[in-house]
Amino acid sequence: MFVSQILPHYLPIPKSLKHHSNASQNSFFLTTFKPSSRTTVKLRAILFENSLFKHCFSKSEDGYLCCEGLRVEDVMNNVEKSPFYLYSKPQITRNFQAYRDALEGLDSIIGYAIKANNNLKIFEHLRKLGCGAVLVSGNELRLALHAGCIFNGNGKLLEELVLAAQEGVFVNVDSEFDLDNIVSAARIAGKKVNLLLRINPDVDPQVHPYVATGNKNSKFGIRNEKLQWFLDAVKALPNELKLVGAHCHLGSTITKVDIFRDAAVLMVNYIDQIRAQGFKIDYLNIGGGLGIDYYHTGAVLPSPRDLIDTVRELVLSRDLNLIIEPGRSLIANTCCLVNRVTGVKTNGTKNFIVIDGSMAELIRPSLYDAYQGAGLVVHDAGAYCMSMASTYNLKMRPPEYWVEEDGPWPRSVMQRHLKTI
Ligand SMILES: Cc1ncc(COP(=O)(O)O)c(C=O)c1O
Repeated sequence: MFVSQILPHYLPIPKSLKHHSNASQNSFFLTTFKPSSRTTVKLRAILFENSLFKHCFSKSEDGYLCCEGLRVEDVMNNVEKSPFYLYSKPQITRNFQAYRDALEGLDSIIGYAIKANNNLKIFEHLRKLGCGAVLVSGNELRLALHAGCIFNGNGKLLEELVLAAQEGVFVNVDSEFDLDNIVSAARIAGKKVNLLLRINPDVDPQVHPYVATGNKNSKFGIRNEKLQWFLDAVKALPNELKLVGAHCHLGSTITKVDIFRDAAVLMVNYIDQIRAQGFKIDYLNIGGGLGIDYYHTGAVLPSPRDLIDTVRELVLSRDLNLIIEPGRSLIANTCCLVNRVTGVKTNGTKNFIVIDGSMAELIRPSLYDAYQGAGLVVHDAGAYCMSMASTYNLKMRPPEYWVEEDGPWPRSVMQRHLKTI
């Protein structure tokens, strides 16, 4: 195993995409990274006492936290800056494979939700494995181009839609004004746009309100009462629009697969209604949203297979191509945020361990009371952590490394994070 830094990319995306492998343009430099022989105990594993939980992060026999067998402390002692995100590349592969295996026997597309983690290297790795992409902005689109993309979101801009039209990306329609913009984009690009209707199925995902999107009072998707209006509008514009499917996304951190099943039942009924009007639609997109076990208390959470199996028969019964858009369940558990202890203090009644990491690097717990590991290493930090990191308090965005399964040491390290403010 070896560790290399994963290129953090900063906007504008096109430039970084174009030049990400160009050493001189991106201050690329090589560094030697070797496991240290020091045996301090700062990063002793405090989680994973529960033997049911097995994945890339595990506790070694002598009590150290390891990522794919490599001591996290050794990594910390050999990288320049802390805190940092540490991923397991093999775990990303395994997570993708779990979806791939679960989808066997179905026509399907896995569209990785780039919002969960927009690291270019991670995306390239997923793309090599055969993953598509689901995106919500022009820059995510530029990042993902050529991967087979689906453009989501309720605030897409005309210029972003023009790019999507030019590139032949599938676009989810979210509202009346969104449809107007899509029509304008098709005319500007001189290309027909392939559409999926994002229908709000009004299914309660039973998650924190901030991450619920599939219930009636959410701002996402079209109201099902308006379905006929949208179908008529699409029918009237055959030169600009081609309806190819229906989409829903219920929310995130969902831990019960019946919720997906309930939505899929509603969605195939809509698809029946749409087909009955002569539309030849092939795609059912059930969004993302599968939760992961942040608590590690031994609870058995649904796997990708459980999710797919719960909708399999419905999909086959209508001869549909199933699109799924996982973010969190593909990437969250592949990573932890590694922090260094700055000091220990007390306010008289409570003792504090002060670390160099903060809500600037990882905001989920402060933003919506998310529980995410404990101690000096914050686990399950692959999704919605680095992609929501900020420069709050004028802190630098943290570097990202991954442990790879192949290749020699030393590895190249990209150093651009030091220049971003
Ligand atoms: C439309 C859509 N698809 C997919 C996702 C990914 O969800 P998750 O990371 O929970 O799988 C999101 C996240 O909010 C989304 O809005």
